[in-house]
Amino acid sequence: PSQKEITVEGKTYKTDSWMNTPSSILDAIPRRLHTQPDHPLTITRQLIESRFPGYKTHNNLFPIVTTQQNFDSLGFPPDHVGRSRTDTYYVNKDTVLRTHTSAHQADTFRKNEADAYLISADVYRRDAIDRSHYPVFHQMEGARTWDRRAAEKQGKTLAQIIWEDVAKIPKHDVKVEDPNPTIHPERNPLQEGHSADETEAIAAHLKRSLEDVVVAIFNAAKTASDAGFAAADEPLKVRWVEAYFPFTSPSWELEVFWQGDWLEVLGSGIVQQSILNHASVPNRVGWAFGIGLERIAMLLYSIPDIRLFWSNDKRFLSQFSASSPIKRFVPFSKYPACFKDVSFWLRTLSSAAGGASPTPAPGASTTASFHENDVMEIAREVCGDVVEDVRLTDEFVHPKTGRRSMCYRVNYRHLERTLTNEETNDLHEKFRQQLVDKLGVELR
Ligand code: PHE
Repeated sequence: PSQKEITVEGKTYKTDSWMNTPSSILDAIPRRLHTQPDHPLTITRQLIESRFPGYKTHNNLFPIVTTQQNFDSLGFPPDHVGRSRTDTYYVNKDTVLRTHTSAHQADTFRKNEADAYLISADVYRRDAIDRSHYPVFHQMEGARTWDRRAAEKQGKTLAQIIWEDVAKIPKHDVKVEDPNPTIHPERNPLQEGHSADETEAIAAHLKRSLEDVVVAIFNAAKTASDAGFAAADEPLKVRWVEAYFPFTSPSWELEVFWQGDWLEVLGSGIVQQSILNHASVPNRVGWAFGIGLERIAMLLYSIPDIRLFWSNDKRFLSQFSASSPIKRFVPFSKYPACFKDVSFWLRTLSSAAGGASPTPAPGASTTASFHENDVMEIAREVCGDVVEDVRLTDEFVHPKTGRRSMCYRVNYRHLERTLTNEETNDLHEKFRQQLVDKLGVELR
């Protein structure tokens, strides 16, 4: 039975056929992990905030926003995949759970309260299930802008003012790879109204500020726990890579070399002038970034599974303290994993249409639309945090019927105790049944 409205923290929304947000996700909204005292996400947030003195902080912005705020105001094209119901939690056609903190950019610029701000918040995305993905996670968004008129008043160019600010950022001696020119004429063009000098200055301010953050994160961890810290062995290496976001140009990601791999830690770029113009601050220019807090915290503390952030277990929470140095997380015993497979035929177009369609040509695919995120969501709904990961292990198309078969392997593991056989069997049986009921698949 589909509800006609939902109420979240006193706010009521009408739902419609776009509604795809389960109650388990809505239940996460009041948790606000990034503001819980001594929570590792809070400590991580505060560590980053401490590198941005004078930036106005916002930590309590409500997560249900309009598609205008989350997408349109940022220049997302109407057909962008991010807007699809397989990727985003909708409440109704025009209302979503924010998928990123950038949803608040335009409003924050419009308020025009400060030259710079930091927004930390919970964000929501339908996604795969594994130890580094959870449908609710936390981001910090930051932006720094300059008012052209302030430069004029001082009789200086905007670029001069910005370079003076670059000189105030603490120096570091970490190796940074940054091989690409600031501008790429097609992919990352100079914006209309921005001079090359200004763009170089803003890019330098952005890059030095964010390098400072990454260096601070690693140093905090290193000096605090001589032996225990995982990163203490390797010297820190970072690099800037060209990126694309609809709301910045040019754009970059910052990657950190971590345990043998380059790991993306943040996205950033020069704010599209149209966003500032529409926000009634056409004289401002500047940069913005967005960073995932879980990823940083996992790396800081060596936290092995993203589900742990949601734990109320004292064995987890008691290991973190804002007033003492960062210590590596000591995992409590790992409880046994239990793997179970489920194989099924996807619903076909003919059965979806009530059997009225003609017989398909031999070998033709008759599969109705299917998205893996729907399987993931059912697993979450049925199993909650007892599911560690769900992986596609086999997929094939029947040569004669054209039907597609999928096999997923579910890893059941509780973080805080051993599951009984009966419990996992029950969960798996419910999961199988829900796949049939909700996705119309045929179990094999
Ligand atoms: N919102 C982007 C993301 O979620 C990150 C970002 C923020 C990029 C601000 C550029 C500027 O991936």
